Amino acid sequence: MRPGLSPPFRQIESLLPTRPMGLLLTSNLPRLQISEDAMTSSNTRDSEFPIDAFFLDRWSPRAFTQETIDQATMLTILDAAHWAPSSGNNQPWRFIYALRGTPSFPVLVDILSPGNQRWAQHAAALLIVVSKTYRVASNGEHRLAYTHSYDTGAAWFSVITQAMKLGYHAHGMEGFDKEKAVEVLGIPEGYRVEAAAAIGRMADRATLPDDLADREFPSKRKPVSEIAFEGKFTGEP
Ligand SMILES: Cc1cc2nc3c(=O)[nH]c(=O)nc-3n(C[C@H](O)[C@H](O)[C@H](O)COP(=O)(O)O)c2cc1C
Repeated sequence: MRPGLSPPFRQIESLLPTRPMGLLLTSNLPRLQISEDAMTSSNTRDSEFPIDAFFLDRWSPRAFTQETIDQATMLTILDAAHWAPSSGNNQPWRFIYALRGTPSFPVLVDILSPGNQRWAQHAAALLIVVSKTYRVASNGEHRLAYTHSYDTGAAWFSVITQAMKLGYHAHGMEGFDKEKAVEVLGIPEGYRVEAAAAIGRMADRATLPDDLADREFPSKRKPVSEIAFEGKFTGEP
């Protein structure tokens, strides 16, 4: 048994690596760090359990370098996204993207809320994520695809993951004009506009206006006990 492992962590001891192993989510050398409390520390964050550091390293910065991204890299990120799981392999996600330096980019910037425009205009790419709300049954009927947003959320996390593996960060945005997006981007009926995102290479926080620089740090999380319940829901109503 590893010295220093306290009782709750003894149960998961068999899951901990005894020597460096390939981790699925990072192309770098493994960074699974086991402290006395069996937590992982990275990016100024500490987990309660020995998770992969990737999950702590993922965060939503606002400072981007104003570098461009080429289309092949963008499509690599979106190719990764569409390997996400979905109910019935329905693949309800759709992505409308604009690359910095192309005519579409200011069009997408214009759809964002003024608060998000301030920093997202410096990203390498902007993304509007939409999902198809229905499936077509064998008799031609349109039926609600119950998990369409859930599935598209999984694809969004794959966007983040592939982007990070290529040295980029992604920052999701709810703050944008959804009606304008439908109109300007030609989104058909039956699709829900889910969210927007900015993708780019992270810059120094000093490049941000002071008020944003003050908020440019990785956020914390609720305790695991508030979000994970064994057997039945015992959380706050
Ligand atoms: C769907 C979604 C919408 C978000 N909307 C905004 C937004 O409009 N503006 C913003 O600055 N951040 C936005 N965020 C970023 C969140 O505030 C951020 O993910 C959260 O505070 C957790 O921080 P972290 O991602 O750095 O761990 C959004 C994130 C998600 C996933």
